[in-house]
Amino acid sequence: MQNVRHFVILAVLIAVVSVLTYLGLDALELMPVAAAAQAAPIDWLMDLQVKLIAFFFALIVVPLVYSLVVFRRKPGEAGDGEHIEGSTSLEVTWTFIPLVIVVVLGYIGADNLAQVKRVDPQAVEIKVVGYQWGWRFEYPEGFVSNTLYLPVNKQAVLKMESSDVLHSFWVPEFRVKHDLVPGRVEIYRITPTLIGDYKVRCAEICGASHAYMESPIKVISQEEYTAWVNEQAAIAAAEAAAALANPDPKRGEKLYNEAGCKACHSIDGSKGVGPTWKGLWGSQVPLADGTTVLADEAYITESIRNPSAKVHQGFSPNAMPSFAYLKDGQIADLIEFIKTLK
Ligand code: CUA
Repeated sequence: MQNVRHFVILAVLIAVVSVLTYLGLDALELMPVAAAAQAAPIDWLMDLQVKLIAFFFALIVVPLVYSLVVFRRKPGEAGDGEHIEGSTSLEVTWTFIPLVIVVVLGYIGADNLAQVKRVDPQAVEIKVVGYQWGWRFEYPEGFVSNTLYLPVNKQAVLKMESSDVLHSFWVPEFRVKHDLVPGRVEIYRITPTLIGDYKVRCAEICGASHAYMESPIKVISQEEYTAWVNEQAAIAAAEAAAALANPDPKRGEKLYNEAGCKACHSIDGSKGVGPTWKGLWGSQVPLADGTTVLADEAYITESIRNPSAKVHQGFSPNAMPSFAYLKDGQIADLIEFIKTLK
């Protein structure tokens, strides 16, 4: 009778502590606002895990503390406790129950993953390039942006590539996080559900400026998105035409800073991952095969579009990704900029 009373008290205490622990953890509001359709199944699973964590915390800690207090050695007691050894039914129970829990959680997790990865054939496609240290968003309409614009309530499929090392695309409000692997195209699907400003962070340590590898994300209405895309496409077309007709070193310098050139090529003569641009124009560039090549328009254009065609002596081939997406006019701007670096 005495034993039953202890178990009843324990059961009540475990229930109370479970609920209080769950409410306490929930009140911390560890998750930022959910801003994507994919967040719902993830948040549901997270909530289930927190409930289980609260219950198991109580299941372990409550009997422990209860035993310490209730079954402590009373004054006058000097003997040892009762010696108990082996209990097959207990061992079968505590093997079987966790096994069931793990199998069920595995099933729920797989189902959850399927929901998060659900494909919408109507999705907007955008290419994402992560590099040391920034993000570039290439739109199929023929322009590039450093801010990721997404239409609300429409699935976006991001085809993500890294131009150097491992990076990780992470927007806490979208919940889904995905690594960028050099040499692979990684697929990331997201359906933003809340108009607003967000930020993508890099969540994979990738070098000195890893902490600053951030870009703004703007989720806007479908109408605003269409207008923005049309405007950007028109600007890009006009810029490309203007650049071809009249290359400008200022635009070239802007491109140098924004397209990622500056991560590897210095303009002050110092050696980076790639050769410096200072004094490059018109020089004889020593190549890995022992020959030299004149740094003229043809050589620089080739090196931008197909970087491993002629490898500069002392630098590794395949270190530089192709920038074939740059238009003729943009390359003309870059060449004008390089000409100014004497
Ligand atoms: Cu890219 Cu950290």
